Amino acid sequence: MENRDINWWKESVVYQIYPRSFQDSDGDGIGDLRGIISRLGYLCELGIDVIWLCPVYDSPNDDNGYDIRDFYKIQEEYGSMEDMLELIRQAEAYGIRLIMDLVANHTSDEHAWFIESRSSKDNPKRDWYIWKPGTEEGREPTNWESNFGGPAWEYDDNTQEYYLHCFSRKQPDLNWEKPEVRGSIFAMMEWWINQGIAGFRVDAVTFIKKNQDFPQLKTADNRGYAPLAEASLNQPGILDFLREMRQKVLEPHEVMTVAEAPGVPIEQILDYVDERQGVFNMIFQFDHVDLDAKPLAKGIYHPWKLTDFKQALSKWQTATAGRGWMALFMENHDHVRSVSKFGNDGQYHRESAKMLAAYYFLMRGTPFIYQGQEIGMTNYAFPAIEDYRDIESLGFHRQQAAQGRNQAEIMDYLALRSRDQGRTPMQWSTEPLAGFTQGVPWIKVNPNYPQINVQQSFMDEDSILNFYRELIRLRRENQALIYGDYREIYPDSEEIGGYERVHGQERWTVMCNFTDRSIRLSAPLEEEIMLSNISGHDKDVLRPYEVLVCRAELMKLRE
Ligand code: GLC
Repeated sequence: MENRDINWWKESVVYQIYPRSFQDSDGDGIGDLRGIISRLGYLCELGIDVIWLCPVYDSPNDDNGYDIRDFYKIQEEYGSMEDMLELIRQAEAYGIRLIMDLVANHTSDEHAWFIESRSSKDNPKRDWYIWKPGTEEGREPTNWESNFGGPAWEYDDNTQEYYLHCFSRKQPDLNWEKPEVRGSIFAMMEWWINQGIAGFRVDAVTFIKKNQDFPQLKTADNRGYAPLAEASLNQPGILDFLREMRQKVLEPHEVMTVAEAPGVPIEQILDYVDERQGVFNMIFQFDHVDLDAKPLAKGIYHPWKLTDFKQALSKWQTATAGRGWMALFMENHDHVRSVSKFGNDGQYHRESAKMLAAYYFLMRGTPFIYQGQEIGMTNYAFPAIEDYRDIESLGFHRQQAAQGRNQAEIMDYLALRSRDQGRTPMQWSTEPLAGFTQGVPWIKVNPNYPQINVQQSFMDEDSILNFYRELIRLRRENQALIYGDYREIYPDSEEIGGYERVHGQERWTVMCNFTDRSIRLSAPLEEEIMLSNISGHDKDVLRPYEVLVCRAELMKLRE
C-alpha cells in the first residue's frame, strides 16, 4: 500500500497562479496577494490541493518578476511580506499548500549582488556572475545567443568586460561554480521553507551549468550567433549542483519540487526524477507544447500531427514507469491557451476543452491547472503590437521587423505563440473587465469574458469548470487513476488519443476524439462509463471531441 503521507505531492492537484493577472484588489490594474487571498474560497471549491505561485519577489519587472532584485522582499505592487505570510496561513486553513517559484539561474541586474559584482574587477562578488573580456576583434566573448534573442553577453562600460545572460540583459546569470553562490541560494530556500511554504517550482534549472570552456558555437555560415543551449543547457556536471541542493535543502525538509527542465533527454529522465536517486519529485517537459516550434527554425509556426502530440506525452510516461513521476500540464504562463491550440475554441469550445482536460489529467503524474484553463480561456489575437507586454514577444517583433519580415506575418505568429496569450487577466465575471480590476488592466482583457467566466461557469452544471471539479473528484477517489500503470492505446491513430491505467484488478480507459467528426470504434465498449463530456452515450461511436472515461474489473472481463 502506498504511504499516503509521503506521497502527498503525487495525490495532489496543483493550480498555477500568475499573480499579475489573477485578481487585483486595489484598483491599480495589477493582480496582488490580497486578490489571491480573496479567491482562496474559489480554489477550495474547485478542489485543488497546492498553489504554485509565480514570482512575487521584489523585481524591476523586466520579465514580469523572473528578474529578482531581492529574494526576501515582496514586490510592492503585489503587497507586503505580511500579506504573503497571511496568504500562506489562510491557504493552509483551506487545506491548500503553497509552492513558490525558485528563480536561481539568474537575478535582476538590480540585485545587490550584481551591483557589487559589476562595481569593480576585484570586488569579492565579482565572480558570483560570469564575466569575460571581449575578443581581440572587440566582439562578445562567444557567439552565444540568448533565449530571448540577441547576444547573450552584455558589455559593461565600468569594468570593460561582458557579463553572461541566458535570458534578458537585465537577468545576469549567477555563477553556480562558486560555492558561496550555491550556499546563498540554499540559505534563501531554507528561509522560505521556514516561512511555511511546501516546496518549489524550480525555474529554468537546466541552465545553471555552463560549459566552462565557453566554446564558440557552430553556425550555418560561421558568422552571427547560435542559440546558447548547446553550451549552457543540461551540461555535464549539472547533477552535482542539483544533488547538493537535494542533500542540503530538499531532503531534510521533504518539500515538493517540480523543475522546469527543458533539454533533459528522455534517456536521462531518471537522473532527475528517480524516486530513490533523482533530484526532484517531477519535471515539466515541453515536447508537446513546443511541437509547433522547431528550435532551428525559430519564428516559424510548424503544423503538428496528433500522433506527434500523443507521442510527445506518452514517451515520458513510459520512461518514468514504476520509478519516476511527471508533472502533467497543458498550458502555463509561457504558452498559449490549450483549447485554442490543441482543441477547437469555436464551435466545440466546451467539448474540446473538457476532452483535453481528461486526456492529460488522468495520465500518471501530478496534474497542474493554469489559471483560466479550468473555464476554457482562449487565445486573444491582440489587435496591435502595442498591446503586447511580454519581453520575448516584443524582442521577437523588433528583430523580425528589422530583418524585413512582413508585419502581418509577425502578428500572426505572435497570435499563435506569444506568451501573452496565456497572460490575459483571469475572467471572473460578466462585470466590466471581467471582474479582474476596477482600474486599467496592465494587459488587455480578452473580450470574450461575457461568455467565458467563473461566475457563469459555476452556475452552469455542464460547464468546463464543473467538469474539472468532477475530474479532480474522480482522481481523488480512485487510486488507480493516481498510481495505475499507463499504457497507450490507439498509438497510430490521427483521430483518437487514449490510454489505460491498470491498478490491481482495476482497469481504467480514457478515450478521446480529437476531431470534429464522429468516429466509429472497431468494437463496442464493454466497460462502465464513469465520466464523459457529452450527455448520452453510444457505445460504438465517439462523437466530435468526445471523451469517455471507463472502468472495468479485470476479473469480470476474463470470465
Ligand atoms: C522560465 C519562466 C519564464 C521566464 C524564464 C526566465 O522559463 O517560466 O517565464 O521568462 O524562466 O526566468
